[in-house]
Amino acid sequence: MCGIVAYVGNKPAQNILMQGLRRLEYRGYDSAGILVVTKNKKLKRVRSVGNVDELQKKLKNQKLAGAIGIAHTRWATHGGVTEKNAHPHFGQQGTVALAHNGIIENYQYLKQKYLANHKFKSETDTEVLAHLIEKFHAKLSLKKSVEKTLGLIGGTYGLVVISAKEPDKIMVARSGSPLAIGLGKNQNIIASDATPILPHTRKIIYLDDGEYAEITAEECQIYRLGTKGEIDKKAQKIDWTMEQAQKAGFEHFMLKEIHDQPIVIMDAVRGRLRPKEGSARMGGFNMTDLQAQKIKQITLLACGTANYACMVGKYLFERLAQIPTNAEIGSEFRYRNPVIDNKTLVFSVSQSGETLDTLVSQREAKRKGARVRGIVNVVGSTIAREADGGTYIHAGPELSVASSKAFTNMLMILTLYAVYFGRLRKMSFETGSKIIKEIQKLPGKVNQILEQAQAIKKAAKNYAGYKNMLFLGRGINYPIALEGSHKLKELSYIHSEAYPAGEMKHGANALLDPKFPVVAIATKNNLYEKMISNLEEVKARKSPILAVATKGDKKIQQLTQDVIYVPKTIEILEPVLNVIPFQLLAYYSACELKRNVDQPRNLAKSVTVE
Ligand code: F6R
Repeated sequence: MCGIVAYVGNKPAQNILMQGLRRLEYRGYDSAGILVVTKNKKLKRVRSVGNVDELQKKLKNQKLAGAIGIAHTRWATHGGVTEKNAHPHFGQQGTVALAHNGIIENYQYLKQKYLANHKFKSETDTEVLAHLIEKFHAKLSLKKSVEKTLGLIGGTYGLVVISAKEPDKIMVARSGSPLAIGLGKNQNIIASDATPILPHTRKIIYLDDGEYAEITAEECQIYRLGTKGEIDKKAQKIDWTMEQAQKAGFEHFMLKEIHDQPIVIMDAVRGRLRPKEGSARMGGFNMTDLQAQKIKQITLLACGTANYACMVGKYLFERLAQIPTNAEIGSEFRYRNPVIDNKTLVFSVSQSGETLDTLVSQREAKRKGARVRGIVNVVGSTIAREADGGTYIHAGPELSVASSKAFTNMLMILTLYAVYFGRLRKMSFETGSKIIKEIQKLPGKVNQILEQAQAIKKAAKNYAGYKNMLFLGRGINYPIALEGSHKLKELSYIHSEAYPAGEMKHGANALLDPKFPVVAIATKNNLYEKMISNLEEVKARKSPILAVATKGDKKIQQLTQDVIYVPKTIEILEPVLNVIPFQLLAYYSACELKRNVDQPRNLAKSVTVE
């Protein structure tokens, strides 16, 4: 996720763009850049590593005079955090510049096919687009060059493009990454969300995927890829406050991030699935297939929510690849004498990439000769830097203290690694292919669950009054019960515990009574009948039951007070779907109890202390 802002009008662009960047900083803050078309039609650019303040410092001594420009605040995906990789990027001749949010999957192909003799200054996928558009623009108008390029791109983009040869306009395009156009009087402003636009106008057009526009100070013409002629799109009047706009109209970052999941799941797997091999491949893994085949055990290091993702990972690696796997809590691992060696592959799994206990454990594992790889969200973070390779989960900035979309994307990456290792061992092509096909259906299925948000809100109202709750799961869903309980505690402060349901009869059954509700995952998998028996026992002790069940399961209604239905998927992917109702349950319970949802008491987003 990155932030884009562009302006064309009758005012100095620099200030408007810089104010816009500040409002978009939550979307990425590892580098920033601004470019303005000067009066003598030169494209003048200033970029800086770090946040918008750093860029502002650089601009102190050099004013960018002009009334049209583009700017960008970056959340690195392809290429490290360097000034060279910061946007905007130029074409080879420096006559076209653009800023991009998203991932161009086929940039290597585009490079080889169309730009074989070009020299690139950055490691980004984005620079390829600037070169390509500029190349076509030698003979075609800017609009036609952008159209032609869009027809060749695979991946996602929110794009703003500017040309020294047509210096009165900005071309913008969207596929998968948001873009809004604010329509003003003799000025138009484009941005990744409404916040940079609202101080200038409240008339906003939200582009849909496949749409692109040619924008001057006076006009905004919108087109759709594959159809001829302008399309008629009405502007909406937006009454949001600035904060509401940053949250895309959601009440809290937490709710926004929960709703981001269908998109970020795709970002996690984009370019990593290998349907023709029934497998997956992670670019930064830095290990040959032969080396990977020699791995004898896997250790997953993490804390909190990330640890629950790792517990699912253990199940995946053992089930799909038959590799003995341990999910280890960072704060414990570092003080043990863990049995690891150079045939052990260690994954450090972390949203922030800065969690001290995970970091120190990673160092300990390295000291013992293990091969250490990161599965991290924040690009360039310490865990990512110190690991010998790894994979970014591409969840985008997660601002709510309680993790949601990062958890889901950790699950996705662990699944891809398990498929990869499975295929190097005994897993058949058919099994690998089936998993890949099911992965591709997940975003749509997550959307179906999100559509039930109001029903989950109602359920949360019924349960928010209880003082204690118990989450039950079995098999691969036990870690999801743990995560559901964890989310509920941290957001609503309701005490809760999680158990593998089969373990209840060994002690926890004593807790059951009408004041102790049970939240159970009872989806249709190979342990379904066992879970139903467990719930019969719960019902007999008169504890109210809220179940997460598979769509179409009527039987479950005889046992439960409330049911949240999730679509059917294969068992190994159930965690990705089953966690969503729990995130919403925790969120709405916290709202009901008037908790500080985005910043729960006593917690911090990144735990860099022991
Ligand atoms: C829970 C939560 C924490 C983190 C934990 C690890 O919602 O956010 O439990 O999961 O502090 O943080 P990272 O993933 O940054 O290492």
